[in-house]
Amino acid sequence: MEIIELRRRFLEFFEQKGYQKVGPSSLIPQNDASVLFTTAGMQQFKDFYSSPDLSPSPKLTTVQPVIRTSDISEVGDDTHLTSFEMLGNFRFGEKDSFEMKKIAITEAWEFINNTLGVPASRVYATVFKDDGWGVSDDEESEKIWRELGVEVKKAGKEDNFWGPTGEEGPCGPTTEIYIDGVEVWNLVFNQYYKKVTTAETAGIAGSTEAGEYVALTQQGLDTGSGLERLAATLQGKKSVWEIEPFATWVHYTDPTMPRQSRIIIDHLRAIIFIVSAGILPGNKGREYILRRLIRKAVFLVDQLSVSFAWDDAIKHMSAYYRDFYQICDDEETLDVIFNEKAQFEKNIIKAKHYLEKWLQQNVSPSSEEITKLAFYMYESFGFPKELVIEHLSSLSYTVDNEYFSNLFLEHQKISRSGMEGQFKGGLVDHSEQTIKHHTAHHLLLAALRQVLGKNVVQKGSNVSSERLRIDFNFDRKLTEEELKEIEEIVNQKIKEDLPVEHKEMPKEEALSLGAQAEFGAKYGDVVSVYSIGDFSLELCGGPHVDRTGQLGRFEILKEEASSQGVRRIKAKLYN
Ligand code: ALA
Repeated sequence: MEIIELRRRFLEFFEQKGYQKVGPSSLIPQNDASVLFTTAGMQQFKDFYSSPDLSPSPKLTTVQPVIRTSDISEVGDDTHLTSFEMLGNFRFGEKDSFEMKKIAITEAWEFINNTLGVPASRVYATVFKDDGWGVSDDEESEKIWRELGVEVKKAGKEDNFWGPTGEEGPCGPTTEIYIDGVEVWNLVFNQYYKKVTTAETAGIAGSTEAGEYVALTQQGLDTGSGLERLAATLQGKKSVWEIEPFATWVHYTDPTMPRQSRIIIDHLRAIIFIVSAGILPGNKGREYILRRLIRKAVFLVDQLSVSFAWDDAIKHMSAYYRDFYQICDDEETLDVIFNEKAQFEKNIIKAKHYLEKWLQQNVSPSSEEITKLAFYMYESFGFPKELVIEHLSSLSYTVDNEYFSNLFLEHQKISRSGMEGQFKGGLVDHSEQTIKHHTAHHLLLAALRQVLGKNVVQKGSNVSSERLRIDFNFDRKLTEEELKEIEEIVNQKIKEDLPVEHKEMPKEEALSLGAQAEFGAKYGDVVSVYSIGDFSLELCGGPHVDRTGQLGRFEILKEEASSQGVRRIKAKLYN
């Protein structure tokens, strides 16, 4: 069964069972700052498990594209993908765990057995068994499966307990369905809510153990089935790479490097989904994940012995998903990918050249020397750390991880102390002209976002009595027209003599009002916010002028590249 058909059948099946069909949510979770990407179908419904009244219906069904970087080291095998589509059905506000499990398992089995026609002889289910961790055996699921005539195996927390996504949330024992030995569907019974218990454990990424599991009185169901995996299994294929849209492209890659070829195709598709969600390549968080995926794909393509039609593959796969998701395959979106790729391709050539010469000059280098080399490649040519280490080890050189981290920390310290010398509480001084430039800086950021789009955020700044400077993410040179328009908007706002107002408020409130925060900066729980009329709102410690009419005439002096994907504008006020 093809993917399109399988998606349709799944949704249709659950709609007939009274589940309301809901569209996929953004890949960027809107309700949970502790996760970078939507990793499961339940992410958009996370709050419904504790507050069922929030849900448009007690039963929902979706097909949700997800990104899972946690499995990235397994990508390239037969079943793992960085991005995949997840079929799911969900129930909220359930009172009786046995009833909920019975309905969920029976419906899932009906879909597998009747709709898809898979006999029990090809299937087994796993259920949760207590492995000394405090949650008792899931005897209910075992009983239900046995009554259906399906073989049951048992496993502990590692395999048969799921969630939460992020630091806190609903979670519980699972039962997983295997067809021909491949895990194709995970049914999670959200019987618990995991709470982070102490201030020390809150905020530690990946801290899965610290926390308290509170039994829920209102329980819920969350199921997830990887569409590509299920489709491949039903089609009798050995791996997900043999189904579309991958199959087309895997055939064009290098048969002597099957794993690398698979990783390239996997990453290209993940890149399409991430860029379509409005993310630009950068150096932190999601932006860095995107950059790493693009660079790794470029790096691997460079290693193939055949030429690979990158651009065509990107275009083909974006078009493949256009009808089902909000995939943007317009020129502007694709250019984000192509530009990052082009920049890194240039760096690869330089880096390879450098590496070749270095290895010629350094016969039998020590581990310390190799590590320094790795750090240099990372710092100067933008090679993601993992990639440099992997590449050097493929040439039989060992990088010392700890020493690499020390070099990294040292490097950070140096760049930070450089910055601290430059700024005094954000501004170089508090002269009248510096303060005016500071207010003009806020106007400029708001104007940039108006003209270039809401993706634009501040990446750095410098304000003095001489001039102001802003760094922001944008992947191409600005046109003369854009610069003129930006300049005119700022001057218009100055003419309108808008009031500049200061308020203190909880950080959450400021962010929900759309206040701009400097990228990567740390803020306390209560923040200081400056607004300029309705035009600009920023988290900022001030100081500022009282009204924009005091600023004079604003002029852009220069627009240039600051670093990859970051532009810099210098501007000045004239009295
Ligand atoms: N949320 C569950 C999973 O992702 C279904 O496996």
